[in-house]
Amino acid sequence: MKFSLFTLFMTAAAATLGGAAATPLAPRDVYVPPVLYPHAGTVWFVGQRHNVTWDNSNPPKQITNKIGRIMLRKGDLTTPVILADNFSILLGHIEVTVPWVEQGSDYQVVLFGDSGNFSPLFTISGSGQ
Ligand SMILES: *[C@@H]1O[C@H](CO)[C@@H](O)[C@H](O)[C@H]1NC(C)=O
Ligand SMILES: *[C@@H]1O[C@H](CO)[C@@H](O)[C@H](O)[C@H]1NC(C)=O
Repeated sequence: MKFSLFTLFMTAAAATLGGAAATPLAPRDVYVPPVLYPHAGTVWFVGQRHNVTWDNSNPPKQITNKIGRIMLRKGDLTTPVILADNFSILLGHIEVTVPWVEQGSDYQVVLFGDSGNFSPLFTISGSGQ
């Protein structure tokens, strides 16, 4: 029994590794610039407007997806909350309104272009919960 479980585990592990190795490397420029604001120590209050800011100083010549989206993440989960959508990733910043969410110090914004990039953890306060 132990042996077969072990075999199962190894097979699963091999399948996972095989799957990862089989993923083709995208021959395109994946451009996801790092988020500069909000950063660690940032506190946002519900209803405020803030510019989410990212470093757009080094864009590649060709960008597959110039359209950005910013979502809110709490703890280990990306929430369905869209803070901003359909903007050019080349802008370097976009104004968002802090949504009415429960208070917490484990929020992040995720900047999506070709893939996603997380900000550091920051705090949203002011909902009184
Ligand atoms: C966000 O940045 C734009 C452009 O610099 C500025 O006009 C606007 O006032 C900023 N918004 C906030 C909330 O700081
Ligand atoms: C996205 O933005 C472009 C350019 O501003 C606009 O033409 C288009 O209608 C927008 N799409 C959506 C789904 O809002």
